[in-house]
This record gives sequence, structure tokens and C-alpha cells, in this order.
Amino acid sequence: MKALEVFKIKDVELRNRIVMPPMCMYSSDDSGIVKDFHRLHYGARAFGGTGLVIQEATAVESRGRISDKDLGIWSDEHIDGLKELVDMVKGYGAASGIQLAHAGRKCAVSDEDIIGPSSLPYDDQYAVPREMTLNDIKEIVQSFKKAAERALNAGYDLLEIHGAHGYLIHEFLSPLTNKRTDQYGGNLHNRVRLLSEVIDAVKEVWPETKPLILRVSASDYTEGGIDADMICEITDLVKDGLDIIHVSSGGLVPAEMELYPGYQVRFAERIKKECNVPTIAVGLIDDLQMVEFILGSEKADLVALGREILRNPNWVLNNLHRKGIKYRYPEQYFRAYR
Ligand SMILES: Cc1cc2nc3c(=O)[nH]c(=O)nc-3n(C[C@H](O)[C@H](O)[C@H](O)COP(=O)(O)O)c2cc1C
Repeated sequence: MKALEVFKIKDVELRNRIVMPPMCMYSSDDSGIVKDFHRLHYGARAFGGTGLVIQEATAVESRGRISDKDLGIWSDEHIDGLKELVDMVKGYGAASGIQLAHAGRKCAVSDEDIIGPSSLPYDDQYAVPREMTLNDIKEIVQSFKKAAERALNAGYDLLEIHGAHGYLIHEFLSPLTNKRTDQYGGNLHNRVRLLSEVIDAVKEVWPETKPLILRVSASDYTEGGIDADMICEITDLVKDGLDIIHVSSGGLVPAEMELYPGYQVRFAERIKKECNVPTIAVGLIDDLQMVEFILGSEKADLVALGREILRNPNWVLNNLHRKGIKYRYPEQYFRAYR
């Protein structure tokens, strides 16, 4: 079975191809520190057989939070709690990843300095961001670097940079939200500059032996925005520093998206084939047969199941049991799975 094939990347070995993608739980408080909820939530998914657990968007700066309940990694105070999550996830056999994020103009925390590439709000419910200065840009790059260093100290196996869903890096990448006239705006090379600098800075501290993932939105679903051609060009410009592309879409501007099972798989397949880089496919995938089809037809290397794994933390164990496959069932649950 394809889903059960081990995936080795650099020094990290995933026990299977099923990924829990990052999902914000908004369950900390203003401190951004890990709570009991997070221990239970992430521990359960590792226990349930998932191969890789990628922790939710975790803010590299307090002004990079989406809400005032986001998890944070903007200070050393966060490390101990995060380390507990890492130990638990790894202790139950999954690899442990973290998504480093900056919300940019989609920060909805009052009293924060809301920043973006240009002074354009997401919609009339959101604040108008302050256009970032060159100094702000330097600070952001350093914040990602420091966060990566803390993630290393906490023991994560993989790091994912959030370049999707209309948050800061995506806001720089897309011509719809980046109207800058300096070296960070205008042509594609300039719009990719912030991302390239973040990748370079992260790689100064994140070891070569551990994989680095980039999450992208492969379409803005809006004329003049990112589309499949552009995301391939962007990927080609940065892929040398990366190991996996996690392919999502949307979130930059209010736009209609046509949703159907596997609606983003075509993007993951295109990036995998055209840019020659491993991909994670995600988006309305909840069925083992579909996972087998995606992996078997080499549309992606890994498959992430978000809401389905929220509904069913034992998705891997339960699906294999139903197929009569003997897997590494946890000892404590042996009588349920024999
Ligand atoms: C509750 C919730 C929170 C999410 N938070 C994040 C996040 O922190 N970072 C991110 O990149 N995507 C986030 N997403 C998107 C998911 O990672 C995933 O791409 C999306 O849910 C589609 O997959 P699914 O249909 O299997 O749920 C979130 C989705 C949900 C449902």
C-alpha cells in the first residue's frame, strides 16, 4: 500500500505518507504559550498513526499573529512548551513539524502594528496595514531566523515556512497585494526577494540534515494574481533551498473558489512534475482510496488530511484496520484492533 511506504527525506524518516497539515486552533492566550489543549490535540494525532504532524501557524512576531490566541515562537519563553509537544508527537512515532508564520495584513489583534507590503486592507473588516519600510523587512527576516533557531532548540524534525493563504510572505509574492516600487515589488524576482531572504536566513540556523518545507497558494483565483504558471516560476526561483512544497491555494483576497474532493491536487502534481520537487497534496481528501490514487499516480509524495483528521484522529489506524492490515497499533488499544 502506497500510503504505508516510508518516506525518507534528509535525515528524517516518516513512517507513512499521511500528514496532518497545520491548522490554527486559536487555543493559547495572549502569551502564545502551549496549553493542555495542544498537548492533547497533537499527541492524539501522533498516537492515531499519522506519519507527520505539522503544528499550526505559529507566530514569529506578536504582530504576526492572526488572533490573540495563536501559538507563538517569538520569544525564548515559548520553547519549553513547544518542546513538550515535540517530545509527545515523536514519542508516539510521528515526525514533528512546525509552521512558522507571519500574518501581515491579516493580523486581527488589536493594538498591534499591522504591516504589509502595501497599504491595502484585505477587506473592510480588516485594518489598513502600514506599508513596510526596508528596516521592517530586515526585522521580519531576522524574526523568521530567530524562530527557526528556537524551533531547532525545541527539537522539531521539519520546518514549514508559511507562504500561503494571504499572510505576509504570500502578500509579497502576489501582484494583487504587492504594489511596491522598490526592490521588493514590481517584477517577479523582486516580489520573491523577501521569501528568498527568509529562506536564506532560516538556513543559516536550520541544519542541512533537516527538511525545509514551503507552503504555497497555487492560485489567487483572481485575474492578475498568482496562478499555476506563476507558482511554478516562483518555486523554480527558491526550490534550491527547499525540500518539499506543500500545495494549497487561495486566501489572498476574497474570491470564489470551486471546491470539490482533491481540488488542489492538480497544482501539487504540476509543481512536482514541472519543478521536480517533492510535494504534499491537500484539500478535501478524506478517503484512503483517493490517497492511494494520488500517491500511486505520482501526483504527490505525501497527502495531508486536515478536517478529516480533526474529525477522526485515528484515521490511519481505523482505515488500515478496516482493510484488515496489521499495523503498529498502540499496545493500549490492541483489543480494539485485533
Ligand atoms: C481549523 C483550520 C485551521 C487552519 N489553519 C491553518 C494554518 O494554521 N496554516 C495553514 O497553512 N493552513 C491552515 N488551514 C488549512 C489546512 O491546513 C488545509 O489546507 C485545509 O483545511 C484543506 O484541507 P482539508 O480539506 O483536508 O481540511 C486550516 C484549516 C482549518 C480547517
